[in-house]
Amino acid sequence: MRRMATWPITAAILNAMLGYHRVFNSLPEAAAAARPYAEGGHEDPEYPKLHMSLAEVPRPSDYAALFHMRGLIDDRAKIFDFGGSLGNLFYLYDRYLNLPPDCIWLVFELPAWVELGRNVATNRGENRLQFTRKWQDAAGVELLIASGALHYFDTPLSQMVSELPEKPSHILINRTPLIDGPTKATVQDGGTHRVACVLYNRAEFVTAFEAIGYEVVDSWKAWELSLKIVGKPEFSALPYSGFFFRLKGQAPKRGGIKTDPAAGANDKAFEAG
Ligand SMILES: C[S@@+](CC[C@H](N)C(=O)[O-])C[C@H]1O[C@@H](n2cnc3c(N)ncnc32)[C@H](O)[C@@H]1O
Repeated sequence: MRRMATWPITAAILNAMLGYHRVFNSLPEAAAAARPYAEGGHEDPEYPKLHMSLAEVPRPSDYAALFHMRGLIDDRAKIFDFGGSLGNLFYLYDRYLNLPPDCIWLVFELPAWVELGRNVATNRGENRLQFTRKWQDAAGVELLIASGALHYFDTPLSQMVSELPEKPSHILINRTPLIDGPTKATVQDGGTHRVACVLYNRAEFVTAFEAIGYEVVDSWKAWELSLKIVGKPEFSALPYSGFFFRLKGQAPKRGGIKTDPAAGANDKAFEAG
């Protein structure tokens, strides 16, 4: 299989047979392969319904997110939820965190979901949940959440954060497919639709956040999700990953955990069995 996948003639035949079930060098390449089968992609009307139903109960990696958010959200705190759908995580996490009445949970989404999300929030009488199309609204927030979302953007999140006039104090990344091989892209099959996504190299992903001033407070596995590229374990995310980053020099808030100088060692021990 490996030889077939690398010899130019057999590789072309194999790629044609695999269609979108393979790795691509860039997100636009993967998006082009996904296009004939996209069925609406991120605008599939079933997609936000799925997010809302999946968020009725926490999934395993939500507990890590909830753990790090305890004590972090004061009155008037602002949370920016990148790719936050209709606010599914807001509704779920509020049940567990009892978010303060004056906090603002701002979801960044596609125009269709911004409009629908606002209607749902109005119908539920929820004014802490707001929606935006402006990335610049993430400047200076207490917490930037990117759960199941950053891999759909061509620009790396670390670069987007570095371009903000004021960086978020904390970044919570969850349900992201990170790989051991070099950064590539692929197509995710969402059942009713298909979307292209980036598969970031794990070490480079962390280094990019460290380079813009963040330290890793914690990392975990999102056991509920995995992405397997057949015959290519180095490009497979088994399972997805989560991280909690804090701007360097900031003291942990009450209830927050201290930075582990050996962060990542647990992962290595885990992988070694
Ligand atoms: C898998 S969902 C994640 C939902 C939620 N954050 C969670 O963890 O359950 C990914 C979200 O990213 C959004 N998204 C994808 N591309 C986007 C873009 N270019 N601008 C804004 N949102 C986008 C999709 O609409 C979708 O709601």
